[in-house]
Amino acid sequence: MERRAHLFAAIFFTTFVLSVFIQFSEAAESKGSFDDNFSKSCPETNFKTSEDGQIWYLSLDEQAGCGFMTKQRYRFGWFSMKLKLVGGDSAGVVTAYYMCSENAAGPERDELDIEFLGNRTGQPYLIQTNVYKNGTGGREMRHSLWFDPTEDYHTYSILWNTHQIVFFVDQVPVRVFKNANYTNNFFPNEKPMYLFSSIWNADDWATRGGLEKTDWKKAPFVSSYKDFNVEACQWEDPFPACVSTTTDNWWDQYNAWHLSDDQKKDYAWVQRNLVIYDYCKDTERYPKLPEECWLSPWA
Ligand SMILES: *[C@@H]1O[C@H](CO)[C@@H](O)[C@H](O)[C@H]1NC(C)=O
Ligand SMILES: *[C@@H]1O[C@H](CO)[C@@H](O)[C@H](O)[C@H]1NC(C)=O
Ligand SMILES: *[C@@H]1O[C@H](CO)[C@@H](O)[C@H](O)[C@H]1NC(C)=O
Ligand SMILES: *[C@@H]1O[C@H](CO)[C@@H](O)[C@H](O)[C@H]1NC(C)=O
Repeated sequence: MERRAHLFAAIFFTTFVLSVFIQFSEAAESKGSFDDNFSKSCPETNFKTSEDGQIWYLSLDEQAGCGFMTKQRYRFGWFSMKLKLVGGDSAGVVTAYYMCSENAAGPERDELDIEFLGNRTGQPYLIQTNVYKNGTGGREMRHSLWFDPTEDYHTYSILWNTHQIVFFVDQVPVRVFKNANYTNNFFPNEKPMYLFSSIWNADDWATRGGLEKTDWKKAPFVSSYKDFNVEACQWEDPFPACVSTTTDNWWDQYNAWHLSDDQKKDYAWVQRNLVIYDYCKDTERYPKLPEECWLSPWA
């Protein structure tokens, strides 16, 4: 994550001027809403949209990757998007879809991550999730998926309120991160966050621990996006700091503070069948497990 973040920051600043021009010219062509809600940092060749502006294509080649972020910051809500990932030989390529409190690798950032780790043709993708608070992460989990994420669009969502953070794949909760609710515990709930996505080269660690290298002959590597949906509290300065984009704030109501009975069944199935790595089980890495590992996801 460090490397990706630095790369992203570097791209962001060096192409900022360029991207202002690109955004300006593309806004005129596509009637889509991308520029209303996002800024991007990509060379012109690495970002494209469908004719109607509703599908976005981010690409990675040997020269550059591509990333975008929301113009707004949010504190609590439901964040959702459909993604179709790089197909074929995508070893070493990572598509990240995450929320972060700062637009670069800030040392005090809070972050909620979903990273899609590419693989050789025919080998399964994994998704890695992580949670950062005030610059500290190390809360990785890895899951396999029950479908091929390169064949079609699937929905990836994050529910965030002060009681829990839940990562969803097609409405199935794959990971639950609870708030122990004491001062300074490990739960990011103070800093508003932007939503980001980017595609980048991570062949030093991503696929089989870095053994599988990116095959640049297969470039460009392209991830596709559509149906961005946010139901959240949009951060406004000054106080009142938050303006809801929905009338009922369902994402911050009692029913969103814990899984429903149906979600618990799905979550149990995920726990039994799809978990590849869980930092809470890694006692070699954490002889004393982080405290949140003792919280029940069922509560
Ligand atoms: C996207 O931009 C439009 C136009 O500015 C705005 O009305 C809408 O609320 C924005 N959506 C989000 C999710 O920020
Ligand atoms: C957050 O991190 C910064 C820099 O590492 C540190 O100085 C600060 O005390 C931390 N804040 C809290 C509330 O832990
Ligand atoms: C945390 O504890 C306080 C005091 O007991 C309570 O008012 C608040 O609702 C709790 N918050 C969560 C997220 O459980
Ligand atoms: C890639 O495929 C290999 C072989 O099936 C598997 O061991 C590995 O977990 C897969 N994913 C990643 C990200 O390495």
